[in-house]
Amino acid sequence: MKFGHFDDQNREYVITQPDTPLPWINYLGCQAYFGIISNTAGGYSFYRDARLRRITRYRYNNAPFDLGGRYLYLRDDPSGEFWSPSWQPTQHKLEQYSCRHGMGYTTIGSTYSGIEASTRYFVPLDENLEIWQLTVTNHRPQAAELSVFSSLEFCLWDAQDDSTNFQRNFSIGQVEIEDGVIYHKTEYRERRDHFAFFACSEKIAGYDTQRDVFLGPYRGWDNPVAVERGHLSNSVAHGWAPLGSHHVKLSLKPGESRQVIFVLGYQENPRDQKFDPPDSQIINKKAAKATIAKYRVAANADAAFEKLRAYWSELLGLCQVDTPDVHTNRMVNIWNAYQCMATFNMSRSASFYESGIGRGLGFRDSNQDLLGFVHMVPVRARERILDLASTQLPTGGAYHQYQPLTKRGNNDVGSGFNDDPHWLIIGVGAYLKETGDWSILDEPVPYDNAPGSETPLYEHLQRSFRYTLDRLGPHGLPLIGRADWNDCLNLNCFSDSPGQSFQTTTNKDGKVAESVFIAGLFVLAGREFAEIAKHRGLDTEASSYLAEVAKMEATIREHGWDGEWFIRAYDDFGRKVGSKENAEGKIFIETQGFCTLAGVGLEDGLAVRALESTRKLLATKHGIVLQQPAYSKYYIELGEISSYPPGYKENAGIFCHNNPWVIIGETRVDNGDAAHDYYSRINPSAREEISEIHRCEPYVYSQMIAGRDAPTHGEAKNSWLTGTAAWNYYAITQWILGIRTSYDGLLIAPVIPKSWRGFKATRKFRGVTYNIEVQRTGDCNCVALEVNGKPIKGNLVPLPPPGTAIVEVKARLG
Ligand code: BGC
Ligand code: NOJ
Repeated sequence: MKFGHFDDQNREYVITQPDTPLPWINYLGCQAYFGIISNTAGGYSFYRDARLRRITRYRYNNAPFDLGGRYLYLRDDPSGEFWSPSWQPTQHKLEQYSCRHGMGYTTIGSTYSGIEASTRYFVPLDENLEIWQLTVTNHRPQAAELSVFSSLEFCLWDAQDDSTNFQRNFSIGQVEIEDGVIYHKTEYRERRDHFAFFACSEKIAGYDTQRDVFLGPYRGWDNPVAVERGHLSNSVAHGWAPLGSHHVKLSLKPGESRQVIFVLGYQENPRDQKFDPPDSQIINKKAAKATIAKYRVAANADAAFEKLRAYWSELLGLCQVDTPDVHTNRMVNIWNAYQCMATFNMSRSASFYESGIGRGLGFRDSNQDLLGFVHMVPVRARERILDLASTQLPTGGAYHQYQPLTKRGNNDVGSGFNDDPHWLIIGVGAYLKETGDWSILDEPVPYDNAPGSETPLYEHLQRSFRYTLDRLGPHGLPLIGRADWNDCLNLNCFSDSPGQSFQTTTNKDGKVAESVFIAGLFVLAGREFAEIAKHRGLDTEASSYLAEVAKMEATIREHGWDGEWFIRAYDDFGRKVGSKENAEGKIFIETQGFCTLAGVGLEDGLAVRALESTRKLLATKHGIVLQQPAYSKYYIELGEISSYPPGYKENAGIFCHNNPWVIIGETRVDNGDAAHDYYSRINPSAREEISEIHRCEPYVYSQMIAGRDAPTHGEAKNSWLTGTAAWNYYAITQWILGIRTSYDGLLIAPVIPKSWRGFKATRKFRGVTYNIEVQRTGDCNCVALEVNGKPIKGNLVPLPPPGTAIVEVKARLG
């Protein structure tokens, strides 16, 4: 069952029924000001940091799930009837409803009682504000006397404090109102230099800023007393809960349309110019007023919207494909790339499943995310890499997370996740291959942000590589530390107290538990690093890395192979995890995927066998589960993984992030059918038809789909902010379609299904547009290349001479 449809032409998903199984959201903003918006206008906004600069209030874990947001009310004044044009919060029936989630904007439209209302929500580029552009049309044969009420609740900035520290919060809220603009200035009187404003393009009939005056005692957003009554009270918030609401009266002739624009913005003032007059406590509104004046004008809002459209067209235009599979095309050309940008902007901080309070930017996550967005925003990718590397510790280890506002490592979580350092090598490798910007390796970058500790970035990579060699366990495999990629495999934790964090509690000294996954990662990162070293002319160093890689591969063969698949780890007692010797958790996806994608066991058939075991034991029609059999009870020596009920999350859920590892593994053994089949099983667009089972958005990946041990097998959770986005994008574009960046140019190495006759693609790479046409002439995936009409040997398209704009590439597969 579907709840809408894709409009690929407009790059939109159109939701036609407001009560989707779960809120289906979108992101507004792509630079500093951000918003999350659901299909019924729920969600919230923040400036840069979802915890520390939260602009509007939102309550997680609410019932209904999604309540609170950017709500408008329409009221038919003669009858007193009122409704929400976005369905929530009144849930009044609508004659027609549609929500169009597009690239950086959402338009929610509906019709009721002859009144059509459509609101376009977006954040203009280079501005710290959002626009709600409402168009109301009267389709009645007679005139309509309407009231429009806006509403939002201000957050008292620190979202954590806002939702807990009520004894203080109920007394600090402050606003100013001037010319119909509502200014939220809680704590501005003391140490904050920022405030928010909420303005309206029309002359207003009234306002409210005290939530409980607007709602009325014992009432909720579905039934505000002010809207019922038909006018606001001009309340001025002192403490309690500041809100913003404007009242606009509209008299519409039959057929007449009117626009009302609301602008919600964030403004910082220089510390010495906070007040106007300077010796007062009144906000200096000069800058804010100029901004408001601009966006009150529809033509300016429209122009800003067109600029946003153009921005996304350009970004997405960098890689466009035309394959025989509509779901592949749609995800690559539109939604998967778009989701990669959301993970770039948000990491794992703010979604409807991440509260914006808990997590900053993850070291491991952000480095992997680079694989998906580096081609779209290389300059910002560079900055991200340098920020990440600046939180690295002198040992080569890394803070697991850092806060985006301060760019400092997060002390609460600390470090000790022994996979972390290698992801920096993977991230830098992806950047170098995409851009050819070798200068980044010479950038001076500090450790733990300590001034004076700077070394060239290249040395950070050396320390990353060394980190593992300094931490090998009894079998010569890398020690796991707190956890590796799987945050829930906590082999040194041994937690027996409720409430302890599995990620930060370490009750063992960690000299025994080893990770075969990190060994696979070491092989991949080591090869990457050797290539980087070679390019810097450091041949001896490169050979030493390759020697270490070969040694690690041999160790994996000796101690990491279980007979039919790769072992996952050794626990603190030196016992195997992910082996036929185990009663539960006999086989794990991570090592089958990662070892094969890293090329371990390609020559001696281990890779093929590991992939066969994966197919036999882990693959389901909804995707590949993380391990089998699921843990049926808590194992203190394994940690959080066994804390989840079977089939969820890391305990045998379909953890979509690592499915692409197997997909890439399948391409490495030349099995395009299997690779694309796995790709399709978790492709959200291909699952659209089963939206009542999948339940999350059909246009973006979710972190997890319930595994076969769960009663809800096939149900997705935790949409949007997941490494799944980048890895799938990377798997489909670089490994299945095989348009692969390398240090020396673009490789063309498709491993596509046998039934595909071919495909076309346009890829902009280092300033050159490559028009690529792949034609299947036989079953095999061997490539015969023609570049600008001339046959060339191998499958590398050499870098063209400077100034070249377009390169034509033809590849025959057969
Ligand atoms: C989740 C993991 C996550 C970890 C760190 C765990 O509860 O299951 O997926 O990586 O927390 O936040
Ligand atoms: C989500 C985390 O963000 C990521 O870092 C981790 O690798 C996976 N969960 C698996 O535990």
